Amino acid sequence: SHTHTHSYGQFRQITKYLCRYKNFNFAAGLTTAEHIDSLQSFEIRDSDIFLVTYPKSGTIWTQQIIISICELAGGLNEYENNCHQMPWLEYSEDHEDYSLRPSPRLFSSHLTPALMPPGLKDKNAKIIYVMRNPKDNIVSYYHFSIKSNVILIDISFNCVVLGGSWFDHIREWHTKKEQYNILFLTYEEMILDLKAAVTKICTFLGKNLSEGDIEQVVEKSTFKNMKKDPKANYEFIPQDKISGNFMRKGNVGDWKNIFTAAQSQRVDHLLQEKLGDLSLKFIWE
Ligand code: A3P
Repeated sequence: SHTHTHSYGQFRQITKYLCRYKNFNFAAGLTTAEHIDSLQSFEIRDSDIFLVTYPKSGTIWTQQIIISICELAGGLNEYENNCHQMPWLEYSEDHEDYSLRPSPRLFSSHLTPALMPPGLKDKNAKIIYVMRNPKDNIVSYYHFSIKSNVILIDISFNCVVLGGSWFDHIREWHTKKEQYNILFLTYEEMILDLKAAVTKICTFLGKNLSEGDIEQVVEKSTFKNMKKDPKANYEFIPQDKISGNFMRKGNVGDWKNIFTAAQSQRVDHLLQEKLGDLSLKFIWE
């Protein structure tokens, strides 16, 4: 749109599979400038729940946990699979009008704060942000990209990837956290103690589940059970779409099998250089 060309430039194709707009890389063909612009006036409800991640940080895992909790808490409208139950805010391939959805609405997003609906700053709607060790994150991303029909990553690791720079994503959300009602979680703590993570999410969402219900959420969210759950494993995505292997290994430390010492040091260096001032606690260390 012409009104935005001055500040952001035009929505443009940058690689075969990526579009760039407002300093963010989107999967090509799934969104438009109009849709991204419309998020600036997207009406937020107090009961809305957003899951925000950098890609390959455990998005579909956390989706399964949130959906299972909300199902058991009651009142959730049912959709055919987790992708429709908790759609990506920035993509609207079928042009669904999300304002027609009954509450509570669940959304996923890979966006940075600047592109999110400003109504979230009222701090009533909730955001869960999941982060993963960048070394495992990039290994997961790499495998996903070479397996999928859609190459989302520049193999030279030049940051021409969906979601942009991992470091910027983490920095943006952590430095803006006071503006939101946000819970930070890590993939690693979910691996370490899934039940504790589920309980933490329940408490944050204000859902009072019984011990038995919590156990049920944990059961539904194990790697083994999710892999065979047709609503949750994302095998329903058609092969011509972003249909890489979402359920690959599901563990911590796979980077040790693939990184050279030099690559590992490079990430350590970047972590210090780009995020060192934030004094974040990385539980993988
Ligand atoms: P790996 O590629 O390391 O196996 P996203 O959903 O953000 O795309 O992240 C995908 C990663 O989350 C994959 O990591 C996938 O295996 C992992 N994952 C998905 N469900 C999981 C689960 N129930 N338990 C552990 N890891 C899971």
